Amino acid sequence: MKIVLDYLEKNKARYTRELCDYVRFPSVSAQPKHKKDLAACCQWLLKHCKEIGLEARLCPTEGNPILVAKTPRKKGSKKQHFVVYGHYDVQPPEPLELWTTPPFEPRIKGRSLFARGASDNKGQNLAHLKAVEAYIKTGTELPVDLTFVIEGEEEVGSKSLAGFLNANRDELLCEAVVISDTGMPALNLPALTYALRGILSMEIRLEGPNRDLHSGIYGGSVDNPAMALCQLMGKLRDKDGRVAIPGFYKGVAELSAMERKEFKRIPMNEKEYCEFMGVPKLFGEKGYTSLEQRTARPTIEINGLTSGYQGEGSKTIVPAWASAKVTFRLVPNQDPAHIRVCLLKYLEKICPPTVRMHVKVGHGGQPYIVSPTSGMAKAALKTLKAAFGHDPLLMREGGSIPIVTQFKKVLLADSLLLGLALPDDNAHSPNEKFSLDCFEKGMKMSALLWQELAKV
Ligand code: BES
Ligand code: ZN
Repeated sequence: MKIVLDYLEKNKARYTRELCDYVRFPSVSAQPKHKKDLAACCQWLLKHCKEIGLEARLCPTEGNPILVAKTPRKKGSKKQHFVVYGHYDVQPPEPLELWTTPPFEPRIKGRSLFARGASDNKGQNLAHLKAVEAYIKTGTELPVDLTFVIEGEEEVGSKSLAGFLNANRDELLCEAVVISDTGMPALNLPALTYALRGILSMEIRLEGPNRDLHSGIYGGSVDNPAMALCQLMGKLRDKDGRVAIPGFYKGVAELSAMERKEFKRIPMNEKEYCEFMGVPKLFGEKGYTSLEQRTARPTIEINGLTSGYQGEGSKTIVPAWASAKVTFRLVPNQDPAHIRVCLLKYLEKICPPTVRMHVKVGHGGQPYIVSPTSGMAKAALKTLKAAFGHDPLLMREGGSIPIVTQFKKVLLADSLLLGLALPDDNAHSPNEKFSLDCFEKGMKMSALLWQELAKV
């Protein structure tokens, strides 16, 4: 292994430059104008994988292409097979004015590389590719067979990948899927994540008058869709942070005493946490700590509200319509299909007759939980300790990776979630960054992981 680790060490400056090239692509999957950039980013990955010595191909889909790259293997190889999953698409960078430097012009400051996608998820999946490069280029035999699957639609619900898994099931059957697309609390607190929240997204649009109306001439005699929407939204959550939709909490699994104890190992200072986010006071469901609230309890969030005049100065109107983009985060054992039915029923009941309501249900993903005590989990924990030099934590995460439940269903494979993102990496926010320490330690972790997993 020394030769592999030495190779990683010697080549780290070039690796950082390559990560800079990777993040230069504005591969924003939510915005149709970037379709070509997603294709170009995937082409870059393809070329890169071939240069590393992987057998790589690009699989077109109805959406963005999927990159598949395999380590060289003998026909009928008896080695264990693992899939490494990641995504090359990124979240929209807006609002642009809040970026210190442009989102797709990478900048290194100290030990951080700033760019949209640096940590979510390009830096994390590149770390795995680079570890394999070190094996191949030093002529070191990998103790396992690997197939990389890097997709371009994770940030919009992984629509094409589910079908792709079914169509390519035989090729992708594996012991487990290794994913670095979550976080770790600090550089000295590496973590194995064993649960993710699910998600259900929707857009609720209320339509009122057939055009914006003069609010002086008509206001008071016609309902205001923006006001009606606020009232509607206000009825979705109570003052204690609980979702107010009847049936919403059906099936919610409570935290075990063991989990609550393990969670307490994660350092938490309420004042610092408030300062970090810039809020005057925390908010959340009673009876749960902040960490529990944001990882193991379900929520509803408004992600965007639009209505009326948004330009400079004032415009006195009753807007014709108002719309809200909303997402739920779901926990084991909530079912997105059931939540959807409950929500639609409730909205129908509370929507006033003075507006017309249109609900567009968007992407969804089931919550995920896996045993943190399996042989593979133990191998992962051992690797984390060796790579980071600190005892790892067992964690739940509040974010979602919708495809993990499909990996389980279609490939019958659990996911090993070994996140490399730090809490201040600004995922989905302006000034996203990735720590070069996490990048380097992540490569080391990946290189060591295959040795440990081969022994399980
Ligand atoms: N990397 C995140 C998921 C994540 C982040 C999990 C932090 C745990 C901790 C991923 O790229 C992501 O943002 N997923 C979306 C999925 C959605 C758009 C379907 C999410 O969670 O909002
Ligand atoms: Zn993301």
